[in-house]
Amino acid sequence: MVLTDTLTNYATRVEQQLAVRLAHSSIQDSLQQAMRYSIFNGGKRIRPALVYLVNQTLKGDLNNADAAACAIEAIHSYSLVHDDLPAMDNDDLRRGLPTCHIKFDHATAILAGDALQCIGFEWLCEQQNDLSPNTQLLMLKTLTRASGDTGMVAGQAFDLAHVDQPLSSIQLESMHRHKTGALINAAIQLGIHSANTDIGVERQTALLAYGDAIGLAFQVQDDILDITADTQTLGKPQGSDELANKPTYPSLLGLQGAKDKLQQLYQEALAAIECFDDSALALRQLATYIVERNH
Ligand code: IPE
Ligand code: IPE
Ligand code: MG
Ligand code: MG
Ligand code: MG
Repeated sequence: MVLTDTLTNYATRVEQQLAVRLAHSSIQDSLQQAMRYSIFNGGKRIRPALVYLVNQTLKGDLNNADAAACAIEAIHSYSLVHDDLPAMDNDDLRRGLPTCHIKFDHATAILAGDALQCIGFEWLCEQQNDLSPNTQLLMLKTLTRASGDTGMVAGQAFDLAHVDQPLSSIQLESMHRHKTGALINAAIQLGIHSANTDIGVERQTALLAYGDAIGLAFQVQDDILDITADTQTLGKPQGSDELANKPTYPSLLGLQGAKDKLQQLYQEALAAIECFDDSALALRQLATYIVERNH
């Protein structure tokens, strides 16, 4: 199957799963509406797709991957709601729609983000088919560490603390690995856990190295698209990084330097999973997609 069809199938699957899980209502209708608005708004669903793809590469049962796929998309969607707030990137467009704080208000956006974060962790605690409580606990720990002050939140804090400041390449790489790479790598780890089988050290190391490379590549391409894409295609404001004088790969290395870095990471990603046979074809295609995507 071509990758775009696979991604569409997995996006449909996670959206159906999210709809079931988000069915219960809160005492505050606007909170519920803002949560739904921020998750059912056409994201690419790359992190859930990675959970599913790794599960299938390892011949797992997809039903064991649903809660993790939903959880990581909830955490990611919360991170976007908060990232767009005036206190952070101050953006008014997300996934082609007004950002949550524009559509609702600032307090509702903060609370909707908080609630999406909590509900994501709650989903990982639900009984899941044949995963053991110990495996579920490992999955919960994987996602919490990737989300909080050892992962995405740390990267976001570093990002905000270094607006208007030139960073060294080591600092910029660390920032990107935290704010974006950590959740992408967590998707790989959740996929491995959901496969519920001992895959051995060599294959585990290979998949994590692949995750490191595509995780950083994902944010390098995001930085590049901020310059080269247009707002309509992106679904978020083009030029936002330049306007806010954010530290990015193009600001450090120039546009061509950032593109060269992207190619280097792409080769690293492919090299990392050389030990896999054709079962990893979709992961190879996903690496290509990440570096070639236009939004
Ligand atoms: C955007 O992530 C934020 C970054 C971490 C670069 P995506 O590009 O995956 O955004 P959606 O989910 O498709 O909207
Ligand atoms: C944000 O990076 C990464 C997150 C953890 C949300 P950006 O600020 O570059 O993401 P976009 O460009 O707004 O999607
Ligand atoms: Mg940001
Ligand atoms: Mg942003
Ligand atoms: Mg960006």
